[in-house]
Amino acid sequence: MANENETTEQAGGVATAESAESLTITDSRTGESYEVAVADGTIRAMDLRQIKVSDDDFGLMSYDPAFTNTASCRSAITYIDGEAGILQHRGYSIEQLCEHSSYLEVAYLLIFGELPTAPQLERWVYDVTHHTFVHENIKKFVEGFRYDAHPMGMLLASVGALSTFYPDAKQIDDPEQRYMAAIRMIAKMPTLAAFAYRHNMGLPYIYPDNDLTYPENFLSMMFKMTESKYEPDPRLARALDVLFILHADHEQNCSTNAVRGVGSSQVDPYSAVTAGVAALYGPLHGGANEAVLRMLRRIETPENIPDFLARVKDREERLMGFGHRVYKNYDPRARIIKKHVDEVLEATGENPLLDLAVELEKRALDDDFFTSRKLYPNVDFYSGLIYEALRIPTGMFTVIFAIPRTAGWISQWMEMIDDPEQKIARPRQVYTGARDLDYLPVDDREGAEKITGPPARRPKRPRRGA
Ligand code: ACO
Repeated sequence: MANENETTEQAGGVATAESAESLTITDSRTGESYEVAVADGTIRAMDLRQIKVSDDDFGLMSYDPAFTNTASCRSAITYIDGEAGILQHRGYSIEQLCEHSSYLEVAYLLIFGELPTAPQLERWVYDVTHHTFVHENIKKFVEGFRYDAHPMGMLLASVGALSTFYPDAKQIDDPEQRYMAAIRMIAKMPTLAAFAYRHNMGLPYIYPDNDLTYPENFLSMMFKMTESKYEPDPRLARALDVLFILHADHEQNCSTNAVRGVGSSQVDPYSAVTAGVAALYGPLHGGANEAVLRMLRRIETPENIPDFLARVKDREERLMGFGHRVYKNYDPRARIIKKHVDEVLEATGENPLLDLAVELEKRALDDDFFTSRKLYPNVDFYSGLIYEALRIPTGMFTVIFAIPRTAGWISQWMEMIDDPEQKIARPRQVYTGARDLDYLPVDDREGAEKITGPPARRPKRPRRGA
């Protein structure tokens, strides 16, 4: 990664002056025309800078709040075709990965770019399995939280705290250190998540069990009670593993962008991943599955569905678990989860909310309001039902999302570190405030005596996410 002060260099394959395709821009302010290279369907924002109205003009910038039309990196990790409902990791379809692979194998694929050979996979699984313990001080650290602390807040703090236990991780250019950080974070995330849950429940923490697989071990750390050996139901362990695969990466989403942005300062990877956990905590990102359950409980019975959908169409409600910024088709992850819900309920007992969800989906997909807007079920429509069937409290849903997303965050962080085009992330702004004011001593300022408390709250603006 280049440092902050180096100038941008154009790398092969990206828009260059010699690119066959170009865009002609005529500046109506000056009448000047400019030829801007086009590559991979993009122009370089820096190429706009040459467009000026005068010599001392800073040059044209692009304005793109929320990055809705700006590619911030070149990435070979995850491919999404939102119109066609396609999701692939390193070229492999999510359907094939969910059918044949395990979460740990997919984590290897994301991080190293290729499926592992048998010895590589064995070593990887061994290394992850043997780094699941956390330092006893981390346990004490978690104990310090209030009994009702949100588990996501506890996870956020404890992942950040890990950086203090592994200061060598600051050597981000050392492949050995990067490997160890990847292993440690993937291995310890379930331990930290389960500790947060047990803390909320007032139950003793359960240490990892090396005889168990990754998802089995998580179930054991969550639910083991007096039995000397926890024996997980294989159907539940498999469903959890599939959920982990489905959540492993999703290209440049809000939390991944946070990891890349913070990591671009060359901070250690634990701190960068902590930024991802924080971003995922937000209700517009990791929290929608919880909202689906709340919605289903409110609807209560299939008879109430028509009224509920009428309220959605009147904009009084949102159909949670439907719609996506990128997918304008059935979210492929939702289709896969749906298949596993039955399997889980077979093990845990029926849940009337499932029938309600299936009926709600059917009615919505028969309705022009939703199909004309390309609103289809997303990954969150059914995942909450599985978590609930596993007796996982809703506060833990986002925590469980963070466990597998760790592999995605780390792979994206590593790709960024190795990318010679990347440097410290530092967007521009359009300044809209005052300038060149004269400082007034406090007693000379008019109206100051009228202020008695914090400034009045601004009206809330509707916000959208994906
Ligand atoms: N229910 C009802 N109407 C909806 C919904 C919905 N769930 N989602 C979108 N629409 C409507 C909008 O009102 C808008 O209609 P209009 O054109 O008549 O005004 C149209 O569909 C387009 O919607 P946008 O809000 O522009 O779509 P955007 O891409 O910004 O939002 C989002 C995507 C946030 C996911 C949205 O579909 C939504 O709020 N869904 C419900 C929450 C949810 O399930 N989130 C999880 C996403 S998956 C994940 O993050 C892991």
